[in-house]
Amino acid sequence: MANQEDKFKKVISHAKEYGYVFQSSEIYDGLSAVYDYGQNGAELKKNIREYWWKAMVQLNDNIVGLDSAIFMHPTIWKASGHVDAFNDPLIDNKDSNKRYRADVLIEDYVGKLDSKIEKEVKKAAKRFGDKFDKEQFLATNQRVVDYKEQGDSILKRMGQSLEKEDLADVKALIEELDIACPMSGSKNWTDVKQFNLMFGTKLGASAESAMDLYLRPETAQGIFVNFLNVQKSGRMKIPFGIAQTGKAFRNEIVARQFIFRMREFEQMEMQFFIQPGTQKEWYDTWKEKRMKWHLSLGLGQDNYRFHDHDKLAHYADAAADIEFRFPFGFKELEGIHSRTDFDLGSHEKFSGKKLQYFDHETNKNYVPYVLETSIGLDRMFLAVFATSLQEEELENGSTRTVLKLPAVLAPTKAAILPLIKKDGLPDVARAIVKDLKWDFNVTYDEKDAVGRRYRRQDANGTPFCITVDHQTLEDQTVTIRHRDSMEQERVAISDLKRIIHEAVDMKTWLKKMD
Ligand code: GAP
Repeated sequence: MANQEDKFKKVISHAKEYGYVFQSSEIYDGLSAVYDYGQNGAELKKNIREYWWKAMVQLNDNIVGLDSAIFMHPTIWKASGHVDAFNDPLIDNKDSNKRYRADVLIEDYVGKLDSKIEKEVKKAAKRFGDKFDKEQFLATNQRVVDYKEQGDSILKRMGQSLEKEDLADVKALIEELDIACPMSGSKNWTDVKQFNLMFGTKLGASAESAMDLYLRPETAQGIFVNFLNVQKSGRMKIPFGIAQTGKAFRNEIVARQFIFRMREFEQMEMQFFIQPGTQKEWYDTWKEKRMKWHLSLGLGQDNYRFHDHDKLAHYADAAADIEFRFPFGFKELEGIHSRTDFDLGSHEKFSGKKLQYFDHETNKNYVPYVLETSIGLDRMFLAVFATSLQEEELENGSTRTVLKLPAVLAPTKAAILPLIKKDGLPDVARAIVKDLKWDFNVTYDEKDAVGRRYRRQDANGTPFCITVDHQTLEDQTVTIRHRDSMEQERVAISDLKRIIHEAVDMKTWLKKMD
């Protein structure tokens, strides 16, 4: 655990030191759970957004994009269920005065059982070596089976109690599990209460006529209320999807874990409109498609798992999370929800407008069902950034910090370095920058010894360093150093564009989804 905490602290400090993520309003002592993206963070975020957009919109003939406003008519949030049901169960500790999400306290308890299982697996794998069969071990080792059963039954009870709004039982569960306040160790809890997560604001100049508004807590509703506009203007035929990326706002009770849980964050959502009755098939299809998208980035298959929900949101008939192994354990990265006709049906009722699709084959109107994929861009950023940050022991006994970002997402693709600051080498290096910058984000760096510059670019996540030396002046070749292997090769300047392109081209990476 200490190790995990250390690693996470390194992630946060590295993100700051290298211009990826800053605490918002830092010079005023910060604003809790709000963050700014720096010069490198803005690029990485843009590249992740583009990687998602291309996979969803450009590569699917039947998915189109949308950019709806953050402000929306307040009745939308009544229709969507957010005014009445977008609550988190909160509990206060009477001694420390700290506030927690009751469900998160319980989930963290179960997370500890999961860590115990992982420990047992590691121990057994060491003991049995090549003969180790993980599946069999998980199914037959009594201790592991007990941990698993205990975790499952806790989550089941919590899910059922939340579903029934039985908050007294949620408190009882916390007490039975002997859960203590992580800050103070005290077990002196208040009752569990519901807390609405939407931020309210006002539209209009005078106090009397101002209209109460909410900052949107999800981008999805902008898609639902534009369903007919897009369907008609784009002559879309079911099945089809509408995708959008944009800011969402939630007044999170527990704002912690850096950019994992923020009060202002960005979502990348896609609503896929389908014929009623086909939702199971599309649910399976989108689970598979989205997992392939994740795996194409090469962060490691072992870092992902599906988690099927016991407790379903008010709009869903099936739901699963794609969970990722963050530095603090497996947590939700993306949700895949079968939302039935809840949203369009409800907007029909509240707006009094028909939101139906006319099927020319059957000559019938119907309210389409919806399959949703919803991922947090900031969470994806954290997944990519934290996994890529590595400390490596080198053969000479030293260590290097390297940010092994997937090259396609790296903010800067290459650094061009003159070996020394004289003999005309900077001019050649600058000419290379001038040429490459039409195709890639590249940077010029002449400060410090070349070894230090390599390390700086490693820590920055730059996949290539291109060094101009005296031989360059004679034969128009340079050395290109690969960030991950640290191997260097001598190549012609005229080949640089091709070499970089092969490594960073989005098409090549996205094709790994096939
Ligand atoms: N439209 C469905 C929806 O919003 P959700 O599970 O509440 O579903 C979807 O959110 C995704 O948005 C999550 O999987 C997560 O990646 C991201 N997300 C949610 N709350 C967040 C927060 N406070 N900070 C950062 N990302 C968040």
